[in-house]
Amino acid sequence: MSTRTKEKTILVVDDAIDTLEVIKRNLTDGGYRVFTAAHAAGAIELLDRARIDLVITDMKMPGVSGSDLIRHVRENHRDAEIIAITGYPSIQGAVSAVKTGAFEYLPKPFTDTELMDAVGKALDNLSLRQSIRSQLAARDGSPLGLIGESESMRQVFRAVEKAATAPATVLVSGESGTGKELVARAVHYTGARASAPFVPVNCGGIPESLLESELFGYVKGAFTGAFETRAGFFQTADAGTIFLDEISEMGLTMQVKLLRVLQDREVYMIASRRPQKVDVRIVASTNKHLPDVVKKGLFREDLFYRLNVISITLPPLRERGDDILLLIHYFVNRFSREANKPAIRFSTAAMHILKNYFWPGNVRELENLVQCLVIMAENELIDSCDLPSLMRFSANHRTGFTRTLADVECDYIRNVLASVNGNKTKASKILGIDRKTLRDKTG
Ligand SMILES: Nc1ncnc2c1ncn2[C@@H]1O[C@H](COP(=O)(O)OP(=O)(O)OP(=O)(O)O)[C@@H](O)[C@H]1O
Ligand SMILES: [Mg+2]
Repeated sequence: MSTRTKEKTILVVDDAIDTLEVIKRNLTDGGYRVFTAAHAAGAIELLDRARIDLVITDMKMPGVSGSDLIRHVRENHRDAEIIAITGYPSIQGAVSAVKTGAFEYLPKPFTDTELMDAVGKALDNLSLRQSIRSQLAARDGSPLGLIGESESMRQVFRAVEKAATAPATVLVSGESGTGKELVARAVHYTGARASAPFVPVNCGGIPESLLESELFGYVKGAFTGAFETRAGFFQTADAGTIFLDEISEMGLTMQVKLLRVLQDREVYMIASRRPQKVDVRIVASTNKHLPDVVKKGLFREDLFYRLNVISITLPPLRERGDDILLLIHYFVNRFSREANKPAIRFSTAAMHILKNYFWPGNVRELENLVQCLVIMAENELIDSCDLPSLMRFSANHRTGFTRTLADVECDYIRNVLASVNGNKTKASKILGIDRKTLRDKTG
C-alpha cells in the first residue's frame, strides 16, 4: 500500500485556503504527493504541467465552477480520477457531480478516515481502469471492438468513458443493430465493476408473467412448481451490471417494481417479505424513442428519468460517413481469418453502393453481409453484381443515376442466369450472345 500511495499524485482544488491546508496535510501524511490550487484556472494549468492521478475539487468556487473543472478533466485528462467535495450538500449537487464524471462525492464536513477511504477507492478504480484499457489496446486497438472514427462515434466513446467512471444508471438508445449491447458491455468492462458479472436480460423476450421471477428470484413454495428458492438476475449481477435490453417492452406493472428497486436499491424475491440489498448498476437500452413511448402512456415518466441519468445515443450507420469503410475492413479481416481465406477486396462500384446504401439493419446488417460475401466469394474481388440486388437497387435509387452500363449489364446477366438456374447455354440464347462472350462477361 505504502509503495503504491507514494507514486500517486493528487491535486486539491478549493477556494477555502484552510480546507486546502487540512486536506493537503492529511494526504501528505498518507504518503501521497500533493499539489494545491485555490481556483479552477490554476488547477487547469497544473494539470497540463504535472501528471495528476486524482483531482479532489470543491464544487462551489468563484469563476470556473467545480462541474466545469470536472468536465475539463474528463475530456482532457482521461487518466485522472475525480472526487467532488462541497459545503452545500444536496442530492442535485451529488447527481450533477457524478453525471459530469466525478467518481465520488464527499459532502463537507468529512472525517480524515472518510477522505482517505474515498481517495483509496478512487485510486483503486483508476488502476483497474488503466489496466483494462491497456489490455484492450493491446488486443485490437479499440475499446471492446467498437470500431469508428466519425465525430458522432467519438462522442459515443467519450460518453462510454464518462459512464464507465460514474456509478449512475445509463440509457443506451439507437436503431436496431447500431451496437447498443456492445456499448453496454464497454461501459461495464471499462468501469470499476469489470470483475463482477455483466448480466444481459432481454425484457422483450421474456413473458411478462415470468419477468418478475427471472429478475428478482423466488422463495421455495412461492408458486406451484417453486421447489427451490432461486436467485434472480439482480442477485446474480450483484456488484456488477444488469443490462435491461429492450426496456420499452417491459409492462407497466413491472415498471413500478423496477422503479422501486432503483429508488431503494433492494429487491423482494417473490413471496418473500424481507427485502434484499443489491448493489447493481443498471444499463438499459431501447430502439424506440422512449419519450414518445412515455407520451403514449406505455412507459412511466418517472422511470424514464431514473434510467436516463446518463444518456448514450448511437447514430445510425448511414450517418457515420467513412466508418462504413472501416467496419468493412474490420469484418473482412475477421471473417477471412476465421474462414482461412484471403481477404476480399471491393471494386469502386461496389464500394459506392455500400457507402450509399441506407443500412436499415445498421452494423449487424453490414457484419452479416460481409460474412456472407467472404464465405461465398470465389475470387478476391467483389463487384457490384455480387451484392444483393435489393441493396444495389436502393443504393442507386438514393443517389440518382450513378450506375454505369457495365453495372446494368452485369445485373441483367445475373438475373437471366438465375432465371434458367445457371444454365449458360440457355442464358446465352436469351441474351443473344455466344457462350464464350457470356463466360468473359461473368468471369
Ligand atoms: N462500432 C462497432 N464496431 C464493431 N462491431 C460493432 C459495432 N457496433 C456493432 N457491432 C456489431 O454489430 C452487431 C450488433 O451489435 P449489438 O448487438 O450491440 O446491436 P444492438 O443495437 O444491441 O442491436 P438490437 O437493437 O438489434 O438488439 C454485433 O455483432 C456487434 O458486435
Ligand atoms: Mg441488442
